[in-house]
Amino acid sequence: MKKNPLNVVILAAGKGTRMHSNIPKVLHEIGGKPMLGHVLERADALQADRTVVVYGYGGEAVPTTLGNAAVEFVRQEPQLGTGHAVQQALPYLQAGGTTLVLYGDVPLTRGATLMNLISRPGLRLLTATLANPMGYGRIVRDKTGRIRRIVEEKDASAPEKSINEVNTGILCAPTDMLHHWLSKLNNRNAQKEYYLTDIVPLAIDSKTEVTSTQPSDDWEILGVNSKDQLAYLERVHQLQNARGQMSSGVTLADPWRFDVRGQLQCGNDVFIDVNCIFEGHVRLADEVRVGAGCVLKNVELGAGTVVAPYSHLDGVVAGANCQIGPYARMRPGTHLANNVHIGNFVETKATEIGHKSKANHLSYLGDTTIGRGVNVGAGTIVCNYDGANKYRTIIEDDAFIGSDSQLVAPVTIGRGATIGAGSTITKDVPAGELTLSRARQVSISGWKRPVKKEKK
Ligand code: UD1
Ligand code: CA
Repeated sequence: MKKNPLNVVILAAGKGTRMHSNIPKVLHEIGGKPMLGHVLERADALQADRTVVVYGYGGEAVPTTLGNAAVEFVRQEPQLGTGHAVQQALPYLQAGGTTLVLYGDVPLTRGATLMNLISRPGLRLLTATLANPMGYGRIVRDKTGRIRRIVEEKDASAPEKSINEVNTGILCAPTDMLHHWLSKLNNRNAQKEYYLTDIVPLAIDSKTEVTSTQPSDDWEILGVNSKDQLAYLERVHQLQNARGQMSSGVTLADPWRFDVRGQLQCGNDVFIDVNCIFEGHVRLADEVRVGAGCVLKNVELGAGTVVAPYSHLDGVVAGANCQIGPYARMRPGTHLANNVHIGNFVETKATEIGHKSKANHLSYLGDTTIGRGVNVGAGTIVCNYDGANKYRTIIEDDAFIGSDSQLVAPVTIGRGATIGAGSTITKDVPAGELTLSRARQVSISGWKRPVKKEKK
């Protein structure tokens, strides 16, 4: 066992009435991840020896969604206050060392701020000085500036309400002392709750130093009680993401219109236009350009590849210098070699496309293997599904598929073959030849268009 174990207790039992939601508040997402997931990540980054989540409202949804072998979940029922909540976690803490209390609905506290908090002994409070402290517990200090106690808004006198320094709720304490102090709490207050904040005078009684530190930005301590606050922290989080990308060399057309809901890794001189969304794991190599309004999920693009506006890519790996979109729809299992062109209204799925091949307009390519230097004409449809099963289509190198053709799978188009426009291909096509399947064009002389009958 470590000499000074770090325990992290995360309070997440509250209902969040003002969210007007059936799901527990801490499962609402910021950047595509539940708020509680962000807090668990912080605990992980601090290398906590023990992490305990106190949950309650919403039943088992919280442990079911975020359960993980390294984290203890303890149910608080009924919910009798923040002090009562931490009491529930006590049996799971490692003795000695420090316990840090975090909140499942305060998702964006910086790691550095928490490091700063836990790096010194005693009872340490994270406080903030706010222009409008309404609703928060206030930090009451004596004339020499030492912290005496925390008074809740509902219990505060008028002069106490004018204090601008607030309790963020985040604190850390020596674990053994915390056990002792929590055992002495009572609920004689306006809310009839066991207040965690009441450990401050108990700490002073036991000659433990009570000190504070403040975060560098106020948003670090903001909690979410409403959809409005959720949206606000979403933008804060995304702006931080954007700044991180820009500081490593990405050019963003507008850092306020940039959304990452997963991980985005970029090379040098990547350009991202407005209103793009990145989900899952996305990797963009040097000089990739992503046009406005694109959604990229689990995508890897090689150097110099350009995605034109309003394209949707999911599960795509593309090589270098490809041109994609505008309005391309590329689905899982799409694999492009270098210098491939996929144009507007082209849908691909489970399809590999070789070097310098093109499908520039209005096509469906599903379960297809396409060689090098192939030209897929406008309106080509691969009929991969017979209503029951799916089959592959193979188009070999240098084939040319005339516009508005249907390739009924399973079928192979030989190397260098040409398909005449408007053909329905149901049998394998030999290499190097022109194949077409369409009725011969005829003109009927003397034919007259029907005319409308006069109404009587
Ligand atoms: C608490 C603090 C207050 C501080 C404020 C910051 C106390 C007594 N007061 O007040 O000083 O300024 O947070 O937002 O601690 N929770 C549980 N179980 C419970 C009660 C609460 O898990 O029984 C969780 C809630 O889900 C929430 C957090 O603890 O995440 C804070 O609870 P809340 O009731 O919002 O406390 P406040 O009254 O805002
Ligand atoms: Ca609160």
